[in-house]
Formats: sequence, structure tokens, C-alpha cells
Amino acid sequence: MQSPKYTARAHTNIALIKYWGKLDQDLIIPMNSSLSLTLDKFYTDTSVFFDSTLKQDIFRLNNKESSSLKVTHFMKVLREKTGETRFAMINSENHVPSAAGLASSASAFAALALAASRAAGLVLDSRSLSRLARRGSGSATRSIYGGFVEWQQGSDDATSYAVPFEENVAWDLSMIAVVISAKQKKISSSVGMQRVVATSPYYSAWRKTAAQDLAAMKKAIKKRDFRQVGTIAEENAMKMHALNASAHPHFSYFEPASLQVMKIVADLRSNGIFCYYTLDAGPNVKIICQNKDIQTILAALAPSFSQERLVVAGPGPGVKLIDKP
Ligand code: PMV
Repeated sequence: MQSPKYTARAHTNIALIKYWGKLDQDLIIPMNSSLSLTLDKFYTDTSVFFDSTLKQDIFRLNNKESSSLKVTHFMKVLREKTGETRFAMINSENHVPSAAGLASSASAFAALALAASRAAGLVLDSRSLSRLARRGSGSATRSIYGGFVEWQQGSDDATSYAVPFEENVAWDLSMIAVVISAKQKKISSSVGMQRVVATSPYYSAWRKTAAQDLAAMKKAIKKRDFRQVGTIAEENAMKMHALNASAHPHFSYFEPASLQVMKIVADLRSNGIFCYYTLDAGPNVKIICQNKDIQTILAALAPSFSQERLVVAGPGPGVKLIDKP
């Protein structure tokens, strides 16, 4: 017997204050609270139905049968939570370069959490959905909501979830994603986090300053102080990457082209074009800017990066069903 099929769409998010380190690996409770902006250009559509004739979950990504330990684990958690006993047919279409540090797991698990919970007959409120998405991937916790979103770290499954900070971002803010590589990253975010928590001598300083950065970021967003938002985001990202550089063995997500973009941004800034960069667990650079400067920034990048590698995104919406029975 088959359950009804539900399809959900979730957009990815880019953290302005990063989550980097887990207190609990299985429940994915973070070491620090984080804050992100959900983007309009990168999203995942996922449809799910349960079927009693299936012997295991079947996961298709971009029309190709795939295997993902994270998806398998997530579906096990979902069945435990919902009491659903059947296996599922999962179809995902990613409108994000997969595993390139453009946070595809954020949109993937937010969409899967909504589609799978509904197919299992459960209607969850946003907070419960955020907690469920968290079990798939930390950053997915935030993709339940649109705009600026805060993931309050909490201390256990019940208290660790995202809350909207400013859902409708009615001010002039964009991100230019510079796609440097769409290849799988060599060190997954999970491995990277475990290593910095275990070995970086700067980890306790990170936790302290991340909390301060978050408080300052919230103030800057409230004041709509673009330069403050950009400055804090860039500095916070560099602190996260400094943890990686100080781990044992040390590692880095930067590629030569990442550094090239960072320099272009710094040069633009010295010429009065206020823009800032942030990087996640991959080489791609996201440039935080104001709409009026987009063309100037694109022109500065154009000699080194082809047009397909430059994606201009704005604030995006929270997760929603796009098809239901
Ligand atoms: O979603 P995860 O568990 O793969 O972690 C991603 C962490 C960063 O993207 C590097 C930062 C963040 O807060 O999104």
C-alpha cells in the first residue's frame, strides 16, 4: 500500500554567523547559536511517499538513483518519530551545485523533513519541523524559515531549533555566489567540525566570540546597518576558517580562486564599494552587497570568472509544500 505523495520546496541559507562544532553528534546540537540569510536562487524540491512493497528507502537525486548515509539515517529517525513502518520513495531535485559549499544539505533536509513528515501523516508546526530538519543536517534547521533566521543552540533535542529573526527582508541586500568548484568537498563539514572541536587551541575563544558576534549582528540587522552586517559576517567567517587552520592536522577549504575573490572584494572596498565575503565548508565565495553595487562587483569579477559562475541571489522564502494529494 502506498501513502499519499507530498512535494516540498526549501531554499538554502548562508550563515552570517557560522555554526561550526557539535555538542552532540547524533542529535546535532551545536556548540554555538548561528544566524543566516535564506536565499531565493538555490533550492531543493523533494517528493516522498511510503510504499509497503519497498524493501529499503529509494533515494533519487536529480533523476539518478543515489545512496546517502545521511538520508538513510534521517529516514530512520523519521520512522522512529512518526511510527511509520514502510520504506519511502524519495525524489530530490537540487537547484544548487551539490556539496560545493553552497549549503545543499540545508535545503535538502528542510525539504525532506516537510515532505516526509506529511507523507507519514504528521502535520508539524515550524518549530517541530526545524527540530526534525536538524537531525539531517545542522544548517537545515534554519532553512525552515525565510529571510534572516537564528538557530538557537539549546542544549537538547527539545530546545535546539531555529526562529525567524526578520522573515521579510525589506531592505537592499544581496549575495553574489562565486562558484569556484562544484566538486564534492574533501573534508565534510562533520569531519571538519569534529577535528576543530577536538584539536584547535582556539576553540573556546571561537565559542565566546561567536556569541558576541551574534549579538552584534542582531543589533546591526535591526538598525539596517549594512556595513556592520557585512563586517561582522566577514570577520566571523574568517574566525571559523582560522579554526580549520589551527586544527591538527590542519586543513583549509580555500582554493587559490577563493583567495582571488577575497582580494577583489577587499580592493573594491578600498575603492569605496562596500561589499564583504563569507565562505562555508567549501571554496565558493559569497559576496554580501547592496543592489546598487551589483553591476560594479560583477564587472570586477568578470575578467577572472565566467558569467555562469556568478549567481546573484536575494533573500528567499521558508519551506513550503508545492504539491500535495
Ligand atoms: O549543515 P552542516 O552540518 O553540513 O554544517 C554546515 C556548516 C556551515 O555551513 C559551514 C556553517 C553554517 O552555519 O551553515
